[in-house]
Amino acid sequence: MSEQSKNHKARAQELVSQMTLEEKALLLSGNGSWTTHPLERLGIPSIFMTDGPHGLRKALGPNIAESVPATCFPTASALASTWNTELIKQVGAAMAQECQANDVQILLGPGNNMKRSPLGGRNFEYFSEDPTLAGQLAASYIQGVQSEGVGTCLKHFAVNNQEFERMVNSSNLDERTLREIYLPAFEIAVTQAQPWSVMCSYNKVNGVYASENHLLLEDILREEWGFEGAVVSDWGAVHDRVKGIMAGLNLEMPGSGDVNRKKIIEAAKTGLLPVQRLDEVVASLVAVVLKAAESRKTGVTFDVEQHHALARQVAGESIILLKNEDNLLPLDVGAKKKIAVIGAFAKEPRYQGAGSSQVNPTRISNAYDELLALVGGSERIRYASGYDIEGVTTAQLLEEARQQAKDADVAIVFAGLPDSHESEGFDRSTLDMPEGHNRLIDAVSQVQPNTVVVLMNGSAITMPWLGRVKAIVEGWLTGQAGGGAIADVLTGRVNPSAKLAETFPMRLEDTPTATEFPGLNQQAHYGEGVFIGYRYYDKRNITPLFPFGFGLSYTTFAYSELTFSAPSIKDTETLTVQLKVRNTGKVAGKEIVQLYIREDRPVVSRPDKELKAFTKVALEPGEEKTVSFTLKQRDFAYYNTALHRWVVNPGRFDILVGGSSRDLPLRKHVQVETTQVTVPTLTRNSMVKEFKKHPKGQEAYTLLKNVIMGSFEEKRHVKRTPQEEYAWKKAEMSTLVFVNDMPAYKLINFSEGKFTEQMLNDILAQVQ
Ligand code: BGC
Repeated sequence: MSEQSKNHKARAQELVSQMTLEEKALLLSGNGSWTTHPLERLGIPSIFMTDGPHGLRKALGPNIAESVPATCFPTASALASTWNTELIKQVGAAMAQECQANDVQILLGPGNNMKRSPLGGRNFEYFSEDPTLAGQLAASYIQGVQSEGVGTCLKHFAVNNQEFERMVNSSNLDERTLREIYLPAFEIAVTQAQPWSVMCSYNKVNGVYASENHLLLEDILREEWGFEGAVVSDWGAVHDRVKGIMAGLNLEMPGSGDVNRKKIIEAAKTGLLPVQRLDEVVASLVAVVLKAAESRKTGVTFDVEQHHALARQVAGESIILLKNEDNLLPLDVGAKKKIAVIGAFAKEPRYQGAGSSQVNPTRISNAYDELLALVGGSERIRYASGYDIEGVTTAQLLEEARQQAKDADVAIVFAGLPDSHESEGFDRSTLDMPEGHNRLIDAVSQVQPNTVVVLMNGSAITMPWLGRVKAIVEGWLTGQAGGGAIADVLTGRVNPSAKLAETFPMRLEDTPTATEFPGLNQQAHYGEGVFIGYRYYDKRNITPLFPFGFGLSYTTFAYSELTFSAPSIKDTETLTVQLKVRNTGKVAGKEIVQLYIREDRPVVSRPDKELKAFTKVALEPGEEKTVSFTLKQRDFAYYNTALHRWVVNPGRFDILVGGSSRDLPLRKHVQVETTQVTVPTLTRNSMVKEFKKHPKGQEAYTLLKNVIMGSFEEKRHVKRTPQEEYAWKKAEMSTLVFVNDMPAYKLINFSEGKFTEQMLNDILAQVQ
């Protein structure tokens, strides 16, 4: 714990020791929707929290539709596509300046849940389907915001992967899946960036509300990961307030008046809630309030233009070039070229998500105006809206679009998902775009061979027209400056350098949760286990529409010379991996180098490969750089559910490096030795064969085995005909199989008591 945190904690404890029971109970619930209660008597101020995550949404009154103007940055799926941790830090710092300017102490973000199904209504607000990528990006976001003295609230902890019945649903999953897929993004963010607060989710995890989940909030978050801040409930996630306090939930949001306050006081008086526990929970919260108060800056202003420019820069880095046949892009904007801009999104973009993250932007750019500004000459740019706000088209709208497209040199169709298709609060019912958008693309591509599709959507969609258009640009929900950024990419002012942080499947039936999502009777069964996202498509050998990690550039890159610091390592040592990447094209560009690990002979069913490291490299034409990664024990390990910890299975691991999960030209293997010998504890329930494998179990094994096999031993040398000998051997073999798989205690019954409970206890004592 840092010195500063220690001081806040000590001061908070001292203040708590001076509080009455009523005051403690008061502090544990919000003062209305966005603030904590002040305690003037003890000099404890109130702090202000607000959404998040892609810009400041400070409500002006009870209606959240009215909020202060703030820069609307790209949403998480777009931010994640940059794979650029430094840039995300800058975005965080800019949002924090806007918080300081508006006297906000905690920004409610980042959202860090895994994208289990592409139908998840809130996928636009989450980073990735991969825990390593999401964790690193969340850590950068937190570091950026907190560097300006504003706290973050990492959300929604945990296993909150659907919107359907989110307040009652139980996410039911096995321990390994929880540890390997759903927790690590939070773990990385907490251990690397120490957010001031964590928001527990609405849902239950294996039947226990996240807001009452001691395993999550106390054992894992605080004990294992060393979280020093306060746990805040999602808005309305509290169920039983006293159980929540026992589990480690500090602050209930929004405030519940005196409803839960009375319950806390009552429980403390009857002893149901020990005073010491109450004090701990209040003290952690007060420590955060003190830190927030100390970090408050007055007189902060921010430069609206500069933040808009940053929003444009980051949007430009998050736009993915998915297809570019015949190098149709960047557009040839020569003086005589005519461009048809089709689709209402070109003028009225969908640029952010709906729900609690909705920002009131300081300004808004659209691709049509921005293209006009960059290309010049309004006579060269034609427009047709193509569909209405819900994505519905008509014969007339299609005809207008065709007319405009036909006479142009290139047509750019803007399409995607309208607001009503994805939002916080409900999941998507289909992977498809509205029919009107698909029909529009078909209509335009029939008359114009040079068709570009620009997409505005927060999560994966299907593309039935993929083969009929030459270029596809994934424009995401790129915030208020997205229009300018799209124009930058289309015209080549910005060379696209983004890659998918989530798989785009061909069709819903191919997805890992096709038959399970979103669950039934308030139960979501995570039957696909650790196989979500690319882990699933790889394992099932399913070709996705576009794989995880994929994205094109206006230049090309070549990989070479993969080297390791050693051909084999112990799991206590690190491995340094180096390689070279060169820009082999004619323009400057940035490449996202991805490193995956594959275990050669796993003992549990593991993904074909898993992302463990990445970096983004800027390269001038012809330039080559050396990239270096350091791998450690955890990168090779799986979560062992018998031992409840991360374990490396010794053997060979392949290191795969390249520019997409399905294009990894560099490969080389390393041997990893395990230093932690895992000796399982033998009990009366252990099978006889397990004694054989145990380092101290040889003698015990012989004793146990011979309780039944003894009769074979005694008559081993009796003379038998070949036929009798054959039958004898067969019987011996099948009896041995039977004995080996038998729990040791069963020998007592099988021997009719000749092998006694005492004998078993003596054997067990020997092998401890
Ligand atoms: C959302 C949170 C949000 C909170 C406050 C909840 O409904 O799930 O993400 O921070 O509201 O607006």
